[in-house]
Amino acid sequence: MLKGSKVGLRARHEDDIPVLRAELYDDVVNASRAEAGPWRPVTPGSKDPRLVVDDTREGSVPFSVVELDGGTLVGTANLWGIDTHNRCAHIGLGLLPSARGKGYGTDVVAVLCHYGFVVRGLHRLQIETLADNAAMLRSAERNGFVREGVLRSSAWVLGEFLDEVLLGLLAQDWKPDSGHGRTVSA
Ligand SMILES: CC(C)(COP(=O)(O)OP(=O)(O)OC[C@H]1O[C@@H](n2cnc3c(N)ncnc32)[C@H](O)[C@@H]1OP(=O)(O)O)[C@@H](O)C(=O)NCCC(=O)NCCS
Repeated sequence: MLKGSKVGLRARHEDDIPVLRAELYDDVVNASRAEAGPWRPVTPGSKDPRLVVDDTREGSVPFSVVELDGGTLVGTANLWGIDTHNRCAHIGLGLLPSARGKGYGTDVVAVLCHYGFVVRGLHRLQIETLADNAAMLRSAERNGFVREGVLRSSAWVLGEFLDEVLLGLLAQDWKPDSGHGRTVSA
């Protein structure tokens, strides 16, 4: 398990799946805002790739996020779009509603940076998020991500086009102990 100061990133367990489905993917507003596609219901038992991990897919590494104190499941995190030629990847995360606003998101970004830069030897990490997602923007910027551009009206979300912000962080600019003064360990 990869550990931040508050959360750990571990493999997906079977019993995580119904919780993530109910609290993240069955939530139309959350799913519509967090994903680049239309919401649709997830059939229990289906092999939806957001829930059921396919270890043969090398370009994507999904994690379940747990509290370090007690091990309670609090969300998902993902290093995706891994490009081993250009040595870059994207990061994504989603916390259960009850786990938001406690500093966990900032910590998850820190752990994903450690995984991307240290474990995988990547050079650049990227995040795309809706321009009104203040908590995601702040979680990223706390870890040194900088806003590189605005993708105007790039996301169709529940009846309107919204802007997305593109943020990037280069390995050379990354300060492992930024954010809330955390230290990440493997
Ligand atoms: C976005 C998300 C991952 C952020 O994680 P989080 O644990 O809620 O964020 P944190 O508690 O680490 O807060 C990060 C910063 O944002 C601020 N913040 C938190 N919630 C906020 C809100 N609703 N509005 C404005 N600022 C907020 C915090 O005060 C903190 O700022 P600080 O570092 O100056 O103290 C989480 O809220 C979430 O899962 N949201 C739904 C799914 C989603 O949007 N995923 C991202 C898709 S790209």
